[in-house]
Amino acid sequence: MSPLMERLGVKYPLFQGGMAWVADGKLAASVSEAGGLGIIGSGHAPASWVKEQIDIAKSLTDKAFGVNVMLLSPFVEQVIDVIVDAKVALVTTGAGDPSRYLERLQQNGTIVMPVVPSVAMAKRMAKDGVDGVIAEGMESGGHIGSITTMALVPQVVDAVDIPVVAAGGIADGRGVAAALSLGAIGVQMGTRFLTSTSSRIHQNYKDAVIKAKDVDTLVTGLYVGHAARVLKNPMSRNFLKLEKKIALSDTTDFSAVEELGNGSLRKAVLEGDREHGSFMAGEIAGLVKREESSEDIVEDVMRQAKEILAGSKMAALLTGQVDVQAQA
Ligand SMILES: Cc1cc2nc3c(=O)[nH]c(=O)nc-3n(C[C@H](O)[C@H](O)[C@H](O)COP(=O)(O)O)c2cc1C
Repeated sequence: MSPLMERLGVKYPLFQGGMAWVADGKLAASVSEAGGLGIIGSGHAPASWVKEQIDIAKSLTDKAFGVNVMLLSPFVEQVIDVIVDAKVALVTTGAGDPSRYLERLQQNGTIVMPVVPSVAMAKRMAKDGVDGVIAEGMESGGHIGSITTMALVPQVVDAVDIPVVAAGGIADGRGVAAALSLGAIGVQMGTRFLTSTSSRIHQNYKDAVIKAKDVDTLVTGLYVGHAARVLKNPMSRNFLKLEKKIALSDTTDFSAVEELGNGSLRKAVLEGDREHGSFMAGEIAGLVKREESSEDIVEDVMRQAKEILAGSKMAALLTGQVDVQAQA
């Protein structure tokens, strides 16, 4: 276990990604209780909601958990105040540069790890003095950069001398083993936890994730400038059509697209609305086969990772001492 994970006191180096609208205090606590580290997604929620979720998490677990702070939120200052008051163990950040809040959080004992989509961003964050970074590839559900996890993680690991957690396209023990092989100290998973029994998302959303195949996501927002990976459904297809139409026209006014996207994650999570809801999920959704408890997810993932890493399976493949056909 790396010193950073030891500081967090986790049994397993496995974070549940902070997901706006999805990851509340109940989901985060269920993952922390299972030996990973749950993260509340504060998104654009007011500070009072974040405080409520922190209180819920504290009532359900004595273990460490985190809060994901969306730096573009209009409530970011108040959310940071709540996090400082509650002495939250870990803050992950999205959409920007957390350096303004760094000293205050770190002096309060909070570990700060921004989510980064590129080497340049990772280097900038490391220079600012963050405790580690979460290198997130574009296979991920939700807002994404443009580089795959496989290519991004080793390049970030080489570029910075702080711990790197890998995210994007990881949903089982094989993904964990691969991420550790690339130099990460642990992983963050989002999509696999969407169907946790502790996840609040609407049954239609859970069913859509369970039904999804490898090719069932698409990326919206590339032209608008907020790329996001979502499941294919009437909403995402309409969004993409409109976005493309505007991009190919003489206007640069994307307000109609932005209006279409407004509140669409909320409609997916709370109402399961296939017509107007954005069912954010990653390319790895095809591996998610059922609804199960966070404990079963964490144990299943870690058991498989341990089996792969402890055995000589991989080394044997290199030295030709294994019947590859039989393995397959
Ligand atoms: C529905 C959904 C909402 C998300 N919201 C956020 C968010 O608010 N902030 C953030 O940093 N990451 C967010 N993410 C990304 C996750 O925290 C995590 O890094 C990602 O899901 C990992 O990739 P995977 O989906 O392939 O497991 C979101 C992901 C999903 C699926």
